[in-house]
Amino acid sequence: MAKAAHHYICQSCGAVHSKWSGKCEGCGGWNSLSEEAANDAVPKGLGNKLKGRVIEFTGLEGAEKTLPRKISGIAEFDRVTGGGLVPGSAILIGGDPGIGKSTLLLQAVAALAQRGVSCIYISGEEAVDQIRMRATRLALEKHPVSLASVTNVRDIAATLEKTNADVVIIDSIQTMYLDTLEAAPGTVSQVRASAQELIRIAKKRGISVIFVGHVTKDGQIAGPRVLEHMVDTVLYFEGDRGHQFRILRAVKNRFGPTDEIGVFEMGDGGLAEVSNPSALFLAERQGQVSGSAVFAGMEGTRPVLVEIQALVAPSALGTPRRAVIGWDAGRLAMVMAVLEARCGVTIGMNDVYLNVVGGLKVTEPAADLAVAAALLSSLSNVPVPVDTVIFGEIGLSGEVRNVGQAATRLKEAAKLGFKRALVPAGKSGNIDRADIGLTGLSRLKELVPLFTQ
Ligand code: TYD
Ligand code: MG
Repeated sequence: MAKAAHHYICQSCGAVHSKWSGKCEGCGGWNSLSEEAANDAVPKGLGNKLKGRVIEFTGLEGAEKTLPRKISGIAEFDRVTGGGLVPGSAILIGGDPGIGKSTLLLQAVAALAQRGVSCIYISGEEAVDQIRMRATRLALEKHPVSLASVTNVRDIAATLEKTNADVVIIDSIQTMYLDTLEAAPGTVSQVRASAQELIRIAKKRGISVIFVGHVTKDGQIAGPRVLEHMVDTVLYFEGDRGHQFRILRAVKNRFGPTDEIGVFEMGDGGLAEVSNPSALFLAERQGQVSGSAVFAGMEGTRPVLVEIQALVAPSALGTPRRAVIGWDAGRLAMVMAVLEARCGVTIGMNDVYLNVVGGLKVTEPAADLAVAAALLSSLSNVPVPVDTVIFGEIGLSGEVRNVGQAATRLKEAAKLGFKRALVPAGKSGNIDRADIGLTGLSRLKELVPLFTQ
């Protein structure tokens, strides 16, 4: 009998190899090749053997019938999806195990079901009883959600062809399998083929399908990147398990903005919406302490005020430590280098710790000035005044650069009772307000005298 042909497929990039090797030539990843039957791989190119039909093109304008989006009423969830679920769209939601993906989706489908949207929740990870227990804990057991614990994609497909579901949750895509493939569930071929089949039906029947995806240690959705390309929207549910805050972030969205976040708080009754995240992130601030600065940031269309803490302490090590949580370590190195080279501030042999309080990950360069203030404050032991917010980008020559949406940032700061702001001097437009005193800085050097004892 002929030996079945096998391929080795990289589990992180999806590249197909004929021989096993320790390193994937496609993505450079180590130990990521796994053996799968060759007929499971992508079908061979059609070459020029087949004759296709000639495509009929149409114009950009047309009588498009736009189906209404399905709104859950959970404002934080709806905003991140771009204003509700688009019929026929596929969403992938990733996140660490135990972060609350299943809880979020159960709450979302229950809310949708209550608004008359027909919802199916399919779990490959938990038994029906376990999901019922969670539903009871969340007091959602009376909501008309259709529940099943299945992993066979063929059965799911057959069911979806027959039902009039509007929204289907697949928790998780890594547990699903197509029995036509030899590969084990969770492998690249299975994940790709199962997702493809389910997306095909979703598009055909106008169903919004939401896949839960596992995340690998380095923070990527397990399985090949192709999964992220196949879906319309990719959301990440993130947060520190030590904190109760959870942030839903859109990283790709064909039907909405990608920089929106939804903030939730995990409690005994499940996830509660946090409509004013700034108040929550600043709730435990300790008044006048050195090394703490409040950054007026923007997350999508929303201003979010967060506390940035720095600790600069003499190092006992030959190479001082630099530890950063919630911000980019490279950016911290840059701010410190500019402080040293342009402002004559020596941080040199000190250990530096930087923390964005509350588990938020700040990505804006606008936080540079607040980070510099926190560092200077810790170094000099002079606190930043409690009623001051800070924002501004720092350039390599020591200049303080203007940032977008200054007016929105200041409005949020005023709402939370802040009285002063350190901002870039070259402000765009009129951002003066009666309730906040502005100090404009054009060079980082001007920040240093504020922290001399
Ligand atoms: P879960 O939704 O199962 O996470 P995931 O699907 O992302 O793996 O969430 C599990 C965690 O959430 C678990 O550690 C317990 C916690 N949790 C609460 O704190 N309160 C609740 O009401 C619920 C349902 C879960
Ligand atoms: Mg889960």
